[in-house]
Amino acid sequence: MEFKRYLVTAALPYANGPVHIGHLAGCYLPADIYVRYQRAKKRDVKFVCGSDEHGVPITIRAMKEGITPQDVVDKYNTIIKDSFADMGISFDIYSRTSKQIHHDTSQAFFTKLYNDGLFQERESEQYYDEAKGIFLADRYIIGTCPVCGNPNAYGDQCENCGSSLSPEQLLNPRSALSSAIPVKRKTKHWYFPLNQYEEWLKEWIVVGKKDEWKPNVYGQCKSWLDSGLQPRAMTRDSTWGVPVPLPDAEGKVLYVWFDAPIGYISATKELTNQWADYWCKEDTKLVHFIGKDNIVFHCIIFPAMLKAHGGFVLPENVPANEFLNIEGEKVSTSRNWAVWVDEYLKDFPDQQDALRYTLCANAPETKDNDFTWKDFQDRVNSELSAILGNFENRAFVLMHKLCKGRVPPLHADVMSDADNALIADIKNAKVLVEADIERYKFRDALFNIIDLARKGNKYLQDSAPWSLAKTPELQLENQKKIDNCLHLCLQLTANLAILLNPFLPFTANKMCKKMKVVERMLDWENAGRIDLLKVNYPLNAPALLFRKIEDDEVTTQVEKLRANLKNATSAKMEQAPKQESTPEATQEKVQEAPVAKPEISIDDFAKMDLRVGTILKAEKVEKADKLLKLELDMGTEIRTVVSGIALHFKPEDIIGKQVTVVANLAPRKMRGIESRGMILMAQNADGRLIFVSPLEKADNGSEVR
Ligand code: 2FM
Ligand code: ZN
Repeated sequence: MEFKRYLVTAALPYANGPVHIGHLAGCYLPADIYVRYQRAKKRDVKFVCGSDEHGVPITIRAMKEGITPQDVVDKYNTIIKDSFADMGISFDIYSRTSKQIHHDTSQAFFTKLYNDGLFQERESEQYYDEAKGIFLADRYIIGTCPVCGNPNAYGDQCENCGSSLSPEQLLNPRSALSSAIPVKRKTKHWYFPLNQYEEWLKEWIVVGKKDEWKPNVYGQCKSWLDSGLQPRAMTRDSTWGVPVPLPDAEGKVLYVWFDAPIGYISATKELTNQWADYWCKEDTKLVHFIGKDNIVFHCIIFPAMLKAHGGFVLPENVPANEFLNIEGEKVSTSRNWAVWVDEYLKDFPDQQDALRYTLCANAPETKDNDFTWKDFQDRVNSELSAILGNFENRAFVLMHKLCKGRVPPLHADVMSDADNALIADIKNAKVLVEADIERYKFRDALFNIIDLARKGNKYLQDSAPWSLAKTPELQLENQKKIDNCLHLCLQLTANLAILLNPFLPFTANKMCKKMKVVERMLDWENAGRIDLLKVNYPLNAPALLFRKIEDDEVTTQVEKLRANLKNATSAKMEQAPKQESTPEATQEKVQEAPVAKPEISIDDFAKMDLRVGTILKAEKVEKADKLLKLELDMGTEIRTVVSGIALHFKPEDIIGKQVTVVANLAPRKMRGIESRGMILMAQNADGRLIFVSPLEKADNGSEVR
């Protein structure tokens, strides 16, 4: 189908905390690259986003800080909006779900489904925290897992054994907010019959989207569909949110995942009177950029809602990314293990593109990836600066030195094979990058652009115009070759600016200024041309495009992360989790201050076989930053245990240490290695690990009781 217009959405972030670089890498940066590319192609595109200002996370945050939910969202909406703008995320509109237009739009949506008789009204008993006076979302109920006995399982999932749970299954349930024992209360809600859309969804996704959608997205949808869909409550008991537009619905609001995606529609309405063209005409290409924890909502629930309502287009694609870890560990907002965008911008003002580059080059497009400050430094210094910046700078310096600061002509009579090959590379790069972006492969696209700069460097090196200038007897002939070389290098520079513009808009802009061209040159149709800079046109003086990242900057940032972690104990529960469990674990977890575990019997304790062992060997596990493979002398045998302590200890420093081992833990395979047992560690409030060892040397294999 030929699309006439593009509607691109990026997940509405919860306005209960600032955004971190995992958010950027997950959806905002790829969405922005895609949109900037579409704009450069002069396609009709609208890019909408805004703050998600309802839901439990916000009320909890307000409760914790003793302020109103409105105060919470006002504060974070501003911080988030500014962070995006400063990073060059070029939304056409950044709205808020607390706006009247959104309340009206989502209520009208609900009313239409209600009037069509779609909702099923059901009474149920739900857990209520009498101390806090609120109904508890599943995640906010903690109790003992009926499957593995983990005493801190959540009402929707046990993190220890991975079982999907409902609050009713938990033994000894307690509230995560007050530790009170929750009581059951009757409540009425309106359920959307998702099960009735199962067949249609299967047809649409399994048959229609299998080859188009990314495997991680398709796979998650397939597993939801295979496990069968159930009716879902689309209302909640709360005073914060969009009120349910029914007469008998006092104290009820729309479920945040019902109203939030409708926020895309409200934001478009706020943006343009032509909003219905974007939402209702079949020749619109609707693309949702999200993180993997939002897949079920955007691929299953929202499309079913749109279908039930009727009259709306459905998403063509939902190119969700996986998660970005930081320095080998999962982002945890409650432990403050994150790189916050507003803080990055304070520490690295004017370095937006350095971050955009690193996050795109290392984007978690197909699997979770790791951001490290060292990698950031390496990418900026050895790729951006050493390849791209270096090429552009050399072209400018040599043009000033050898061609009087003006764009030299191209002489057809001395064209070499290398010149022609470079022209072919320039044309080909456009084709490659375009194909990559259209298929949401932004990493590959960026790689191909840097590769073009790499080719430029090689061409310049091989052509060596500086040495040609040294043979005066061949002056005329050689000057022609010098001209050709620098003419092509400068045209290549102009091409790089066009190709880079969606990815590194600040840099592309700087390049335009240096080349003294207007931004219109960055139109995508100009890519591949080698007549972009006019012959004899004087260009500005050379100036470096990128600055190097120094070692001490890296050290400071790593120390800052660790210090944040230390201070985080007072800021627990800052950002609450998604209010939904997906087949994959969610990134944000409720982190309460360590809760005392429920009482156990002596028999429970007696089941554990704890023994002393000595570490004989320790080595890193390949491709697993966190794991060490240990060989332990257990007295009567040598055991292999894989332990997640690699970020805390160097292998050579722990040889000879005595440790306490859970010796009868069921064996587990980790990275292909069978781990037989677990070593015990104490964890300080700052996250540091300490060995739990006997005070005096004990015999290996001694029992710990
Ligand atoms: O995961 C989140 O941060 C949600 N606030 C995303 C909502 S996306 C959309 F549906 F609005
Ligand atoms: Zn469990």
